[in-house]
Amino acid sequence: MPPLRLGVNVDHVATLRNARGGELPDPVRAALIAIEAGADGITAHLREDRRHIRDADMARLKQEITKPLNFEMAATDEMAAIALATRPHAACLVPEKRSERTTEGGLDVAGGHNYLKPLAAELGKAGIRVSLFIEPARTAVDAAKSIGAPVIEFHTGAWCDAHLHGERGRAEHEFERIVMAAAYAHKLGFECHAGHGLDYNTARRIATLPEIVELNIGHFLIGEGIFVGIPAAIREMRRVMDEGRAQA
Ligand code: PXP
Repeated sequence: MPPLRLGVNVDHVATLRNARGGELPDPVRAALIAIEAGADGITAHLREDRRHIRDADMARLKQEITKPLNFEMAATDEMAAIALATRPHAACLVPEKRSERTTEGGLDVAGGHNYLKPLAAELGKAGIRVSLFIEPARTAVDAAKSIGAPVIEFHTGAWCDAHLHGERGRAEHEFERIVMAAAYAHKLGFECHAGHGLDYNTARRIATLPEIVELNIGHFLIGEGIFVGIPAAIREMRRVMDEGRAQA
């Protein structure tokens, strides 16, 4: 069974900082604490509007953390230039709309083929492992294959939302989509990741899928960290992921 990595997204430490302006709380400090507590990597999303992570945060994360940095970015020239200058371990290409509160859906890979393919090639040539954040659907996996990126991350938001609201039927339907898409993507040779909206319950369940080798989790962990501390939240997340994996 391949191990399951935990990538911790520190965006919302920066959200809290920016609510007041100034420098505290520091997302880089949160990243260092997360690594100490067992995170296998750190994820941060430099959004076009800089609503949470700032350019300087990304540069400091790259400089100061000792585990892989996953740079979430929109597929724009501006972000490509910053990624190429920062040289993170990985870049995850995500769709971005100014009006959304969070990343609401997967990339339109087929529609974006003409700019995604050269961008993925350029980042890849620079030694950055490229992933595409997509819906758990066969059509999206097929479209991703034509881009040439080695990794896809499945958007788990619809499943987690149904789970959170106790909509069992919809949750099972959404989970089944992830199961099918992960099996298909694995067969095509993709490394499969998953993220968005995961909590202890959904992380434990998705850990049972052997094709998924990385979860990227932010909002829930930072929120839970307010009550129990970030290290305790990460240790509990690690524990439930291991529990799920053992049932795979
Ligand atoms: N993965 C991707 C590609 C994302 O865009 C996000 C949200 O920024 C996450 C994972 C983490 O989602 P959440 O903060 O809901 O755990």
